[in-house]
Amino acid sequence: MLVRDARESDLPEILVIHNNAIAETTAIWDTDLADLDERKAWFAARTGAGHPVLVAEIDGKVAGYASYGQFRPKSGYRFTVENSVYVSDIFQRRGVATALMTELLARAHQGGVHTVIAAIESSNRTSIALHERFGFRIVGQLPEVGHKFGRWMDLTLMQTVLNEGVTSQP
Ligand SMILES: CC(C)(COP(=O)(O)OP(=O)(O)OC[C@H]1O[C@@H](n2cnc3c(N)ncnc32)[C@H](O)[C@@H]1OP(=O)(O)O)[C@@H](O)C(=O)NCCC(=O)NCCS
Repeated sequence: MLVRDARESDLPEILVIHNNAIAETTAIWDTDLADLDERKAWFAARTGAGHPVLVAEIDGKVAGYASYGQFRPKSGYRFTVENSVYVSDIFQRRGVATALMTELLARAHQGGVHTVIAAIESSNRTSIALHERFGFRIVGQLPEVGHKFGRWMDLTLMQTVLNEGVTSQP
C-alpha cells in the first residue's frame, strides 16, 4: 500500500468512494450525490489552503482517501482542523484507514496544527473505534442535529491535541 498526496487524476475514484458513503452510510450527511466538478472544487480549496488530501493506493487503485480542513472559517480557528477518512468497501478492514490516519496526523503535526476534531455520526462505532486508537477522545454529543434515511442522527465530537507546547504562533 502506498499513501501519497492525491492528484487531480485521482478524483474520479475519490468521487466513487465519496458517493458510496453518501448513498449507503451516515458518514457523510449529504443526501444528494456529488459530481466531479464538486470534487474538483473541494480538492482545489483544500490544496489551495495548504491542507493535505491523501490517497492510499493498492495495486494502482485508490483504496481510500483522507483529508482535513479548517474546523470553522473564522481566523481564531486557524490551528484547529476537522479530519475525514473514507475507505472503499472492497478494501475495508485491511489497515487502509490506519495508514491514512497515521500520515494525516503526521502532516498535521508538521503543519503546526494544534488540535484535530472528528465529527462522527454517533452510531458509527467503526469510526469511533478507529479514532480512539489514534488518541482521540469523545468531547461532545449533539443529539438529533442531522436527518437522513428517515431518522434523526446524533453527532459525536472527538478531539486530539497535537503540538501541546506551541503557544506563540502568529
Ligand atoms: C471507518 C473506516 C474509514 C475504517 O477504515 P478501514 O480501512 O476499514 O480501517 P482499518 O482496517 O485501518 O481498521 C482500523 C481500526 O478501525 C476499527 N474498525 C475498522 N473496521 C471495523 C469494523 N468493521 N468493526 C469494528 N471496528 C472496526 C478497528 O479498531 C480497526 O482496528 P483492528 O482491525 O486492528 O481491530 C471505513 O470503515 C469507512 O470508510 N467507513 C465508511 C465511511 C466512514 O465511516 N468514515 C469515517 C467518517 S467519520
